[in-house]
Amino acid sequence: MNKDLKKILLTEEEIKKRVCELAQDIMNDFKDEELFFIGVLKGSVVFVADLMRCVKNDVTMDFMAVSSYGLSSQTSGVVRILKDLDFDIEGKNVIIVEDIIDTGTTLKYLYEYLKKRNPKVLKICCLLDKPERRKVDIKADYIGFTIPDEFVVGYGLDFAERFRNLPYIAVVKEEAYANK
Ligand code: XMP
Ligand code: MG
Repeated sequence: MNKDLKKILLTEEEIKKRVCELAQDIMNDFKDEELFFIGVLKGSVVFVADLMRCVKNDVTMDFMAVSSYGLSSQTSGVVRILKDLDFDIEGKNVIIVEDIIDTGTTLKYLYEYLKKRNPKVLKICCLLDKPERRKVDIKADYIGFTIPDEFVVGYGLDFAERFRNLPYIAVVKEEAYANK
């Protein structure tokens, strides 16, 4: 394992199994209805690609890119939209697919932002949840794993843009990010 990583938190097999279970939960809730997935760049890319292939419904998808205004976003709750949707979501069954809920600021903002476009249903599917870090009130409808307050990478998640390609999720050593 890379010297900046401490341990594997979730193995490739554990993730694969859980992603299929999440897909099954979504299929149970939406039966044969059409779904519209919104992947939040870049962290959710690997997750959304695996999730959509486990779902048997008719799925269309799009991406959004957002960026927080640094620390002030946590108090103001304002998130900058870098790439908006290419499609109209009015009347659609929309599922926001995100890598991780940390403070909740990003998802809360995105949820309110997309709600205004009148989707039929708006749900949140998140691979990882760090409830200890929550600052705003937002809950995902589908959660892969609840994890402790440690910085994790892999399966799409990065540390300074590294490690997104790892097939597992690992914890970064404190000394690695203390120096950044
Ligand atoms: P908020 O605080 O708005 O933040 O819920 C969500 C975003 O913060 C990033 N984030 C992480 N990225 N490992 C990462 O690679 C982590 O442990 C981690 N915690 C938060 C991530 O971009 C997420 O979308
Ligand atoms: Mg993200």
